[in-house]
Amino acid sequence: MGGMKRTARLALDNRDLLLSALRALAPLRGLALELGSGTGEHALAVARAFPDLEVQPSDPDPEARASIAAWREEAGPSNLRPPLDLDLLAPAWRRIAADLLLCVNVLHLAPPAAGEALLEGAAALPPGAPLLLYGPFLDGPPPARLVRFDAELRAHHPALGLRPLAPLIEAAARRGLRLETRQPGREPGDLLLLFRRAP
Ligand SMILES: C[S@@+](CC[C@H](N)C(=O)[O-])C[C@H]1O[C@@H](n2cnc3c(N)ncnc32)[C@H](O)[C@@H]1O
Repeated sequence: MGGMKRTARLALDNRDLLLSALRALAPLRGLALELGSGTGEHALAVARAFPDLEVQPSDPDPEARASIAAWREEAGPSNLRPPLDLDLLAPAWRRIAADLLLCVNVLHLAPPAAGEALLEGAAALPPGAPLLLYGPFLDGPPPARLVRFDAELRAHHPALGLRPLAPLIEAAARRGLRLETRQPGREPGDLLLLFRRAP
């Protein structure tokens, strides 16, 4: 099982930033649902840092779920749940009654409908509950890194690509999700966005 465990430099790079943003929301209780957990390193870190939170990782990719399960088996605290096979584009995840949603470096790697689906699901959070989103977004003239990255993604598949920030914030507002915090991420053009469901 240990051999299935994966690690991602990017996940380690932005982990402390994500934890700091979550600490600012403390006390955190209830169920944190992560969509697109990848290696599982963020879910593991969040579960360790917030023992009063139940952390539910998920990913549609079986290799990612194997990695999450391996991390959990080796090092997971009891509040880290086994990974679920959830796809933002399928409605099942919205039936999970989460108190916090986490989605890191996913939206540019999924079709635009995934962003819409994420906001739809977040609109069903309890009043005041947070959606923490992290990733590269297009906001004004993009840094060269993002121009290259966007071209690479679109060459890989035309449905992928960096998402513009302003329409995302507007779509969130239409669903009663207010942007509370916006801060630069670890790489130029990366942003950490904290939305709150209207009280
Ligand atoms: C770059 S990885 C990020 C993983 C992790 N969140 C992190 O920051 O290290 C992107 C992840 O999004 C997942 N993903 C892609 N499309 C998805 C979708 N439609 N719904 C949920 N997750 C998706 C992929 O399987 C992959 O694990």
